[in-house]
Amino acid sequence: MGADFGLIIPPDDIASYLPGSAMEVRAVFLVGFMASGKSSVGQELARRLDWDFVDLDARIESRERQTIPEIFRDSGESGFRLAETSALRHLLTESLQRSSVVALGGGAFIQETNRVLLRQWPSVFLEAPVSELWQRSLADGIERPLRGDSEQFARLYAERLPCYRQAAITIVTSGKDPASICAEIERKLQSWGTGAVGSSQISPARSGTGESQ
Ligand code: S3P
Repeated sequence: MGADFGLIIPPDDIASYLPGSAMEVRAVFLVGFMASGKSSVGQELARRLDWDFVDLDARIESRERQTIPEIFRDSGESGFRLAETSALRHLLTESLQRSSVVALGGGAFIQETNRVLLRQWPSVFLEAPVSELWQRSLADGIERPLRGDSEQFARLYAERLPCYRQAAITIVTSGKDPASICAEIERKLQSWGTGAVGSSQISPARSGTGESQ
């Protein structure tokens, strides 16, 4: 039942924290390969919706008190994946207190456990040609332990594509600026939620609850 647009009923203590009768937290999860723009589009979408922006990799780093490259170096990819699933589970069960746009790391949606955790929530795959992603990954200066060379990068992308395709919504991002990508996401989210969800569901879900994190 995808039509609830990622609705969760927060624990009792949050009721007093939310304004009025708003007892709902909504979220959308951005998925896609390295350098697909999950963070920049996510920040822009959160700004437009007046929702919080959550970067799962940043959550992992603060929970583990290590950078992503350090986690890979000390615990390997398997250790990183455990930390990633644990951070996602924690986010979904305990710390998603306000409506949020969540950017996942490039491998998060590849783990079946994570896809199961996210089943009730809208996921958006940001799709772009792998050659473009490779160029962007070289340009953005972010250290990515799994980037490898261009052939390894392309191979990993091809392996992962079937998983990304399981996202509820796909947006082709090539040649589009963040504002038009966000507008497209908002439109698709509305039709994705047809039935139980009206357009008001992606209007700001809170009013005057304070600052974003
Ligand atoms: C990973 C992508 C990274 C980060 C980690 C693993 C991956 O995030 O989670 O290095 O497996 O593709 P970005 O997609 O934000 O680069």
